[in-house]
Amino acid sequence: MKQAIVLAAFGSRHENAAASLAHITERVRRAHPDVPVCVAYTSKTIRGHLAQAGEAVESVPDALARLLAEGTTHVVVQSLHLIPGTEFHGLLELANELMLREGGFSRVEVGFPLVAGEAGMDAVAEAILSETLKGRGDNDAVLFMGHGTKHDGNVYYEALHQAFQKRDRTVHMGAMEAEPGIDAIIERFTRDGVRKAYLLPFLFSAGWHAARDMVGEDEASWKTRLEQAGIRCEAILKGAGEYDALVDIWLAHLDDAIRRLSRC
Ligand code: CO
Repeated sequence: MKQAIVLAAFGSRHENAAASLAHITERVRRAHPDVPVCVAYTSKTIRGHLAQAGEAVESVPDALARLLAEGTTHVVVQSLHLIPGTEFHGLLELANELMLREGGFSRVEVGFPLVAGEAGMDAVAEAILSETLKGRGDNDAVLFMGHGTKHDGNVYYEALHQAFQKRDRTVHMGAMEAEPGIDAIIERFTRDGVRKAYLLPFLFSAGWHAARDMVGEDEASWKTRLEQAGIRCEAILKGAGEYDALVDIWLAHLDDAIRRLSRC
């Protein structure tokens, strides 16, 4: 049995995004020193941009084809996505196809994304709260900006918001491209008398979306919108992959997947 781990991230071309990927890759290598680890990006657009800049990163199918040619028999594709949406389900489809193909891998297992199922949501909420700011004032709120998706997986953002609220009424989750959106959040903050918001990305890395859509200077950014509503903002530009408590959860999913590899 020759094993390998592929870390499948959405991908980013923003310079601030590298920290998250470097941190989690290092932790995976330390946890599994005997297994080769490589990184692949699931976003075709990002891979296109990087290839043009001469910094090509493999797609997951390309990384798997290479590993197979190198004699790998058992492989884990670990999702570095935050919720099970389009990208994660794409990995499941690919794994299914590759497992059934003649002359392919003996085993392809996919590790869950950060948020996986009902129990997983509580674990993620607890982990995030363990890392969020202490010593906030009475009129302060903590607001996470998730990506949001048209996929059914979008339900996890609202579910995470509820999981936060059960534990701490001052912590909120919103989504950039879907509901719960910034309009509803501003309405709620205004009603609750929030004067200051700590803005944090609920994204794998603090890349382009954090820089532009969360704290950018243009009119549509969350920071601009909140400030127009009279709410001061302070941003903490750290991606999910930089928080050890969250990386612990990804590593636990990876561990499960590796254990599945050797089950007959
Ligand atoms: Co995006």
